[in-house]
Amino acid sequence: MPLIYKPKQEEKLSITPYIDESSQIINSYAGKWTSIGAYNKIIESSFGDYTYTMDDVTVNYTEIGKFCSIASHVCINPVQHPMNRVTQHHMTYRKVSYGFGSEDDEEIFDWRRTQRVKIGHDVWIGHGAIIMKGVEIGTGAVIASGSIVTKNVDPYTIVAGVPAKPIKRRFSPEISDCLLKISWWDWSREKLETHFDELNDVETFIVAHRK
Ligand SMILES: CC(C)(COP(=O)(O)OP(=O)(O)OC[C@H]1O[C@@H](n2cnc3c(N)ncnc32)[C@H](O)[C@@H]1OP(=O)(O)O)[C@@H](O)C(=O)NCCC(=O)NCCS
Repeated sequence: MPLIYKPKQEEKLSITPYIDESSQIINSYAGKWTSIGAYNKIIESSFGDYTYTMDDVTVNYTEIGKFCSIASHVCINPVQHPMNRVTQHHMTYRKVSYGFGSEDDEEIFDWRRTQRVKIGHDVWIGHGAIIMKGVEIGTGAVIASGSIVTKNVDPYTIVAGVPAKPIKRRFSPEISDCLLKISWWDWSREKLETHFDELNDVETFIVAHRK
């Protein structure tokens, strides 16, 4: 039987966030032109304008900036279990589900809320990467596919491996500084449309907009 490609009808994005119906979202926020792919699970997190996720992405307790690209099977902030209790099993805090109490142990959830991840703007997170608790990822960074990020990542730096280490920079420190000063991700939609074609050439972009 030949496999016949049948493209899914492409949805045009808009200022209203697009969320695939298979995804589960709890107490989270998404800005304009955002898109959340299939089978995502998102808890108490925020997504800046234009940021998108592909399929099977998990995001817990995280602030994500604008224009970020998050590939499939990424996990941001896998939550921690209490290791100092007799058992690490979640029945000790999800008491209601297991019939061990009438209220869950909120202390554990509050503890998880203190371990938030922060991701800047224009960050690309590759397929299957895992970003661990409390990590901050600078604007413009790249996380290679399959990496496990345990330490903060500087802006415009490419990290790879387990644990992830810097392998190179996207641009020179001078160009990175100029881009951070220009902060094009904060431009209005109108300004972005006016200068849209300039986004493909970093040298001329900087000459035109440097501060
Ligand atoms: C990080 C990345 C952007 C680097 O691409 P690149 O600039 O072309 O880099 P290279 O392929 O030249 O690799 C540079 C070095 O990093 C290593 N490297 C690249 N990707 C790696 C990864 N995912 N994990 C570990 N090491 C990696 C290479 O082995 C090479 O090491 P060496 O210098 O010792 O030989 C790319 O490898 C990557 O992971 N892209 C993400 C793809 C993805 O997940 N897409 C999902 C769709 S959104």
